[in-house]
Amino acid sequence: MRRITLTQYLVEQQRERAAICADLRLLVTLVARAVQAISVAVGKGALAGVLGDMGRENVQGEAQKKLDVIANEILLEANEWGGHLAAMASEEMAAPHSIPHRYPKGEYLLVFDPLDGSSNIDVNIAVGTIFSVLRCPEGVADPGEEAFLQAGRTQVCAGYAVYGAATLLVLTLGSGVHGFTLDRESGQFYLTHPDMSIPADTREYAINASNARFWEPPVRRYIDELNAGSAGPRGLNFNMRWVGSMVADVHRIMTRGGIFLYPRDTKDIAKPGKLRLLYEANPMALIVEQAGGAASDGRMRILDIEPDGLHQRVAVIIGSRNEVERVVSYHLVA
Ligand code: AHG
Ligand code: MN
Ligand code: MN
Repeated sequence: MRRITLTQYLVEQQRERAAICADLRLLVTLVARAVQAISVAVGKGALAGVLGDMGRENVQGEAQKKLDVIANEILLEANEWGGHLAAMASEEMAAPHSIPHRYPKGEYLLVFDPLDGSSNIDVNIAVGTIFSVLRCPEGVADPGEEAFLQAGRTQVCAGYAVYGAATLLVLTLGSGVHGFTLDRESGQFYLTHPDMSIPADTREYAINASNARFWEPPVRRYIDELNAGSAGPRGLNFNMRWVGSMVADVHRIMTRGGIFLYPRDTKDIAKPGKLRLLYEANPMALIVEQAGGAASDGRMRILDIEPDGLHQRVAVIIGSRNEVERVVSYHLVA
């Protein structure tokens, strides 16, 4: 069977469907090249001396891994010169990265989590990259943080890469979600998962249960009901899976359904949730919604949240639609 490559898919989107312009095609192509380079670095592991800590913290106060910094550099370098971007922002940088003056500027903003789940990297568990594409507001020549503070529903493209047994790039350009697998020998991405869709119902959930004592009552009620199994109010047994890399957990849900929760908790009052809105929650919410799932912070649709900071954190409840809606309904009666 002859598979279509990512390049062919993008050309088709541009030429036959007029779904994307040349700049967006270039953007996705360059992100895919960066993903391939990150995949090589992740795959070499200890042989390339890329494991372990940097010995410093990022703007979030989290210990940076060497691969967090390497992946960030790879994405910046891949996307600086193409003329398609006005600026970039990342989990690993306090402020947006301007396009160097020697290069032309374009109309898009790229924001990313260069390496998601990086606490898993030294134990050889799947990690990922998450990215989101926004339009630069009109008339803004040198975009700062403000330019990135757009609700997730305005994203023109979102995607993630998962560096697991295979490297996959999963992408939405706003009409459906498609998954591409990297052929490590040829360096090509091939369309292997067309039209990904999430079943509305599931019996599988993912949550860091060690935070249970900090959860709010609606989430506690929901998880208690799942754990009560067939003898409880749901009358069904549920299974738990938790990788600890959001990308890998969401990819499982994209593949066979499920619900992932990183809810608001009282562990640290300064953090209303652990995951970051602009480069974790928003791109994943767009992808999951495009695949027929749902994404909420418990109170509102993730994609409708008006951001107030580049590194803002939110609660995330995402995945199979009927389960997400149930958790939201528990918040309404609380
Ligand atoms: P990152 O590695 O980009 O900082 O993100 C880690 C996130 C996410 O991948 C995962 O779901 C979550 O943190 C796990 O956090 P805890 O182990 O603290 O529950
Ligand atoms: Mn992350
Ligand atoms: Mn990260």
